[in-house]
Amino acid sequence: MNYNIFKLKNNFITATFTDYGARILSLVVYGKDVLFGFENINGYIENADGYHGAVCGRFANRIKDGKFCLNGKTYQLNKNSSGQHLHGGLNGFDKKIWDSKLNEDSITFSYISQNGEENYPGSFNVSITYTLDENRLRLDYKYYSDKDTIANITNHAYFNLDGDNNSILDHKLMINADFYTPIDEHIIPTGEILKVNNSLFDFRELKPIRENFDKFSDTEQFKFASGIDHNFVLNKMEDCDCVLLGTKSGIKMTIKTDRQGLQVYTGNFMNNLKGKNGLVYDKHSAIALETQLFPASTSFAHFTDPVIKKGKIYKSYTVLEFDK
Ligand code: GAL
Repeated sequence: MNYNIFKLKNNFITATFTDYGARILSLVVYGKDVLFGFENINGYIENADGYHGAVCGRFANRIKDGKFCLNGKTYQLNKNSSGQHLHGGLNGFDKKIWDSKLNEDSITFSYISQNGEENYPGSFNVSITYTLDENRLRLDYKYYSDKDTIANITNHAYFNLDGDNNSILDHKLMINADFYTPIDEHIIPTGEILKVNNSLFDFRELKPIRENFDKFSDTEQFKFASGIDHNFVLNKMEDCDCVLLGTKSGIKMTIKTDRQGLQVYTGNFMNNLKGKNGLVYDKHSAIALETQLFPASTSFAHFTDPVIKKGKIYKSYTVLEFDK
């Protein structure tokens, strides 16, 4: 495979990327690489079902039975995860070599997904620009299609802000979300939108993730996912949407996005992965915070609208800010 590696560096952040899946490979802040990943590209290929650092699409997360209806027509997408369509299907954006353009403080990856790819309608043009801006990494997505289609694009980086492989449960987390979308046993949203009050999902105040795990590990929602693998409905009223704090390193990441959903995945399926820097990754040793539309939003009219209108340009952004 013909892939390339790129580096961006300023006084606060050193980051490496590859055009294979438009991935972030490493993110060094305050002397620590806070991103999970692998020693070489083979690690990413062998552990493809982890989507490490990759851009996921055309539709990130799950679509029930891989089926959706658009303009009166039903489409059957490829199924790649227990009968569901997950993160764009069998050969999603994470497995493509993207075009690249390196600038002084940014890199843009772009990709054209052909009409019919994974059975999606429309030729779909997508780009992501990663920009370093002092202590911030900015992700700007842009996409359009020549036919009506659906899209949900995200980045699937896993963070451990202590730069080690110890349990992420000792990190502190705050999410500005009063509601979340519960799942069924296949990790598909049921369509309900419930209050986080007194549940596994109440992170309205910064607190150790462990606190909620200890209290709510016998609940159905916890058991369905072996942890958190849920979409949070962001309030969009505050300055930031989410804060993650590495309690040993003191490194704090603040997330701001224009997306309405945050898929929080506490690395529940990670098991004995041979990662970079000699680290072995096990269950709950990192967290993915995926800014996106609600999963399965193709199934529920009251969820975020995933429809992309022919010819219209769509943009979205996420900013990760690092402090200590
Ligand atoms: C998450 C998803 C999880 C799992 C993971 C990749 O976004 O919610 O269920 O599939 O990606 O391993």
